[in-house]
Amino acid sequence: MALARDADRQEESNMSRQKLIEMTRSLVKHGEADTMELVDDVMAVPASDYTDEDRFEQEKERIFKRLPLMVAPSCELAEPGSYKAMEIAGIPVLVTRQKDGTAQAFLNSCTHRGNPVAQGSGKASRFTCGYHGWTFKNNGDLLAVASPKDFGAVDKAAFCLKKFPTLERAGLIWATLDPESTLDIASYLCGYDELLEHFGFKTWHLFEQRTIPGPNWKTAYDGYLDFYHLPVLHKDTFGADFFNRANYFAWGPHQRLSSPSKFVQKTGSDEQVDLTQMDEKDWPIDALLQGVWTIFPHISIASFYGGGGRGAMISQLFPGRNVGESFTTQFYVMEHEPTDDEVRQGAHDQFAFLETVVAEEDYKTGKRQHEALQSGMLDKVWFGRNEGGGQAFHQWVDKLIKADDAQLDAIFTPQLEAAE
Ligand code: FES
Ligand SMILES: [Fe+2]
Repeated sequence: MALARDADRQEESNMSRQKLIEMTRSLVKHGEADTMELVDDVMAVPASDYTDEDRFEQEKERIFKRLPLMVAPSCELAEPGSYKAMEIAGIPVLVTRQKDGTAQAFLNSCTHRGNPVAQGSGKASRFTCGYHGWTFKNNGDLLAVASPKDFGAVDKAAFCLKKFPTLERAGLIWATLDPESTLDIASYLCGYDELLEHFGFKTWHLFEQRTIPGPNWKTAYDGYLDFYHLPVLHKDTFGADFFNRANYFAWGPHQRLSSPSKFVQKTGSDEQVDLTQMDEKDWPIDALLQGVWTIFPHISIASFYGGGGRGAMISQLFPGRNVGESFTTQFYVMEHEPTDDEVRQGAHDQFAFLETVVAEEDYKTGKRQHEALQSGMLDKVWFGRNEGGGQAFHQWVDKLIKADDAQLDAIFTPQLEAAE
């Protein structure tokens, strides 16, 4: 059985590596021809989609509280007993790594009278509620009621913490913040997780993390979905000659963006390698994975070589308290934990640089853009034929807001089948 499973996994891995090679082939071809893939037409989005409070409420209800969300990279909860508490669209969430090694998300709310049972993050095999002292195991079971004789009879099995459907794949943990959800998380991923597996995040190390405030969540997310703005908005940080083209590859609503070019940066140096001068089977994995990998509706993964090793910044974006606010947790993950101070400092500097780029350039612009849109004087905003990523994102937001719960499976299952 185990052997058969290993063989299946190997076959999946070979197939998805083949897909990575096909994408790279297309990027090289477009790079040589000095072209990019363009979508059919420019597309307008009503400006009010970014500013309307009712629309914002719908997005929280129908997207963030109904679809699987990537709640944590596996390395954030590396060992049995690791946990973190967080809030997503007003829902208190607790994610734990249980004794058996699996990850599980819960409603962080005591079944006695609702107080959150955990704060912050750390390691704990049990949580004692700070209000009256009920104790829960980190698998959600109610272990003990305080002063049980006085309290009265309690069927402990009926008072476990509420569980959210949870799935760990590719070194990332997803949860759906609806205990009744029947949407299969694997179907929702549309086969994208098999490609993400190639990063090997499962064994990576969480170097640093931080949370920064931002503008409306879609305004913020738009910025992760185009390269068009890079040499303009980021001219002082990335440089004015930065490439502004991206080709988009989609698995359902999840999209990868990558520059059409035959050149890739050689691992660990500034030197450029010409992929056409190499046999495809020798194309290095970081060349095959280059660019930005987004996970609908709120994740962006940018990988690079920096600070002495392979690293990635995983940005996790959530809507804030009102339509004009969001917050983003940036996880800086590294293939290897740095062992000397120089590497540690290099990684730290790179992470600080990326924070500045996002906070000072992307999000400050997003705030100004949002304030201008709130004037209500502009009816529409536009996405060009070169901004297919933003177009697809807004189309998916629209489609999912309109879809009933019962339609969700039918939306994602065919996407998964098409990817296989
Ligand atoms: S609310 Fe948790 S013990 Fe009372
Ligand atoms: Fe940007």
